[in-house]
Amino acid sequence: MKKPDARDFFIDTYPINPYPNPWDYVVDSYDIRSKSRRLWIKDEIYAELVKKLFDECKCNTILDVGCGAGAMSILLSDRFRVYSLDLSNRMLERLKTRAKELKKDVSAIINADNQKIPFKSNSFDGTLCKFALWPVPNPQETIKEMVRVTKPNGRIIIIEVDRRNGDELNLRSKLVYRTYKVLKKFVRVRDWKKQKTLLHDDEAWKIIRETTKNNPKINLKFTREVLEGCGCEITAVDTTIKTKINGFLGKISGGQCGGHNYFLICGEKRGGR
Ligand SMILES: C[S@@+](CC[C@H](N)C(=O)[O-])C[C@H]1O[C@@H](n2cnc3c(N)ncnc32)[C@H](O)[C@@H]1O
Repeated sequence: MKKPDARDFFIDTYPINPYPNPWDYVVDSYDIRSKSRRLWIKDEIYAELVKKLFDECKCNTILDVGCGAGAMSILLSDRFRVYSLDLSNRMLERLKTRAKELKKDVSAIINADNQKIPFKSNSFDGTLCKFALWPVPNPQETIKEMVRVTKPNGRIIIIEVDRRNGDELNLRSKLVYRTYKVLKKFVRVRDWKKQKTLLHDDEAWKIIRETTKNNPKINLKFTREVLEGCGCEITAVDTTIKTKINGFLGKISGGQCGGHNYFLICGEKRGGR
């Protein structure tokens, strides 16, 4: 049988990134090879949790929605045929570079908006979205799109921060963050001057915070309701992932998002739209 190809699934392409995208300037934080990232989180633990859930429904082809620089796509590519989608070109360029260096086969890299996924319905055995709902104004659309492009009986996995109580960090996290930022400042400014990029990453984070501040605050209840509303049966919920995935700094700060908990939810598509 012919191997599936990205072109088999595409509806059309979108005019993407008409303006500078601040996510283009924070790529280093999402790079699988970034040493500082490892201080905060352990990507391979996330990958194991996700592999187990996709394996249970015998997934073969999966879509990583809002894949960033592709840490998960790369780790999952050993087991699945992975398609990776993100709005930031530079994130995708980094994914391409790392996949090549690490000799990993990521099937297709797609520059698109996750609120309007450019694939036909029922294209993938599984879809994953890890921390890429909070940056979008209509996360319910992203979830609906994930369900739409997933095949019946396929799985939709969402990993997010539970922001029921807003975005405020607790005191402990604030202290660790501030210290970390002061220590990193020198290195960052030096790197930035060397790279001569448009934006320093601290500036980019400010823009990201500003442009996302009115987005719905993602939480487990909201995500579950949207998944169920799209005809999914919830097959797994894990609200303890934060205790498993933290690196050294993650542990002492109480996790990257301070007092907030993280959740993983897995839905299986029954009816769908
Ligand atoms: C917090 S990062 C998470 C990246 C990756 N999933 C991870 O966990 O390492 C959020 C990602 O969502 C992407 N993003 C933001 N808005 C998006 C949109 N409308 N459509 C697709 N991706 C988007 C950003 O470019 C960024 O790579």
